Amino acid sequence: MTDRAAMPELFTWEFATDPYPAYAWLREHSPVHRTTLPSGVEAWLVTRYADAREALADPRLSKNPLHHAEPPGARGKTGIPGERSADLMTHLLNIDPPDHTRLRRLVSTAFTPRRVARFGPRVQQLTDRFVDGFAARGQADLIHEFAFPLPIYAICDLLGVPAEDQDDFRDWAGMMIRHGGGPRGGVARSVKRMRAYLTELIHRKRAELAAGPAGSAAPAGDGPDDLISGLIRASDHGEHLTENEAAAMAFILLFAGFETTVNLIGNGMHTLLTHPGPRADLQDSLARGETGLLETAVEELLRHDGPVELATWRYATTPLTIGGRPIAAGDPVLVVLAAADRDPARFRAPDTVDLTRSDNPHLGYGHGIHYCLGAPLARLEARTALATLLTRLPDLRLAADPADLRWRGGLIMRGLRTLPVAFTPEV
Ligand code: HEM
Repeated sequence: MTDRAAMPELFTWEFATDPYPAYAWLREHSPVHRTTLPSGVEAWLVTRYADAREALADPRLSKNPLHHAEPPGARGKTGIPGERSADLMTHLLNIDPPDHTRLRRLVSTAFTPRRVARFGPRVQQLTDRFVDGFAARGQADLIHEFAFPLPIYAICDLLGVPAEDQDDFRDWAGMMIRHGGGPRGGVARSVKRMRAYLTELIHRKRAELAAGPAGSAAPAGDGPDDLISGLIRASDHGEHLTENEAAAMAFILLFAGFETTVNLIGNGMHTLLTHPGPRADLQDSLARGETGLLETAVEELLRHDGPVELATWRYATTPLTIGGRPIAAGDPVLVVLAAADRDPARFRAPDTVDLTRSDNPHLGYGHGIHYCLGAPLARLEARTALATLLTRLPDLRLAADPADLRWRGGLIMRGLRTLPVAFTPEV
């Protein structure tokens, strides 16, 4: 048993590089742990799987930051840009039922698994385009040249952002990811521009839809089948969606679906490149044209080193206990998904990468009413990305000492700053 006095320090450079020893210590010695976050905010960390799953589904834990007992400080708490700006407050990740139920129902009618499945060929096309960009060179940075652009262009396409405007989104998103989503000057400006652009786009699409089917000559991705048009149609059929809500919804889809997917692809490739056995099995199965292992592999990579780490925020609306610890009303509670997903009480050999793992009810996409809306899209992108890289560049290898890789430490996301690789150039 670990020495109680040896609690690893949280939020240091070592922690950002490898938080799992600290999580193991917390699960064993202080599974519901009071700590001071780097922002100065006091919060509870919930690290055991059973407690985490229960907390994620507990209606007494609100997502609305207005339930936080402390007055909002100068620094962001959730890390979501614009979290306290009134016009972005109405997004899914900041609200509770009944507003959440109504908005989630509306967006679910637009964000259907069918729409995502139809999007498969487009994701493959984008993936190939980015691999084409470096395949002849024999080396690349998989974060900047691949994992970063793929999700942003994919979401822009899905939302219906016209192709000529998508580079602006890449730049705004780049600003957010570089600065970890904090409310610093450049980030705030990017959020404002993105938000203004989305409001204008919604106006335009509403007008186009009202004008009838004449827009059928619109370029691909800009037609009436896009998600924003779907949202507008859903709101025009009975249920009410205000312009603010529509813009906040489009924004949260971009925000929630961007850095997460960058890091699922980045962390996932990093794990494969540093685990030659499982990687060879996956590559063999892809060479045989099978997809079964790819599907369980993406879930296992998400469980083993998922992008959403110290999230996700909740606020106690009433005094309650979690894992026997009393929590006061107004206290912030952080469910540590990355710790819960390595809990030996739930997962056999939790630190082992087992791409065939089938008993894998991981919490990487959350649980309960806020369960990730974009999970089908994330799975599609991750499967396409990993399969394409391993098939087109079969001898892909890390071009840096794993110990030299730098991780972006944050309160929400865990991901690499760069992932340098080398391979035999494609001819
Ligand atoms: C919610 C993870 C990709 C949209 C969540 C939550 C998690 C999560 C953990 C729950 C947060 C909570 O309970 O507080 C991930 C991961 C992804 C991913 C690991 C990629 C690997 C996406 C994508 C989209 C998306 C691609 C959309 C394009 C959303 C939305 C919510 C959400 C809208 C809020 C749902 C609600 O509150 O009802 N995601 N996500 N996510 N995710 Fe994802």
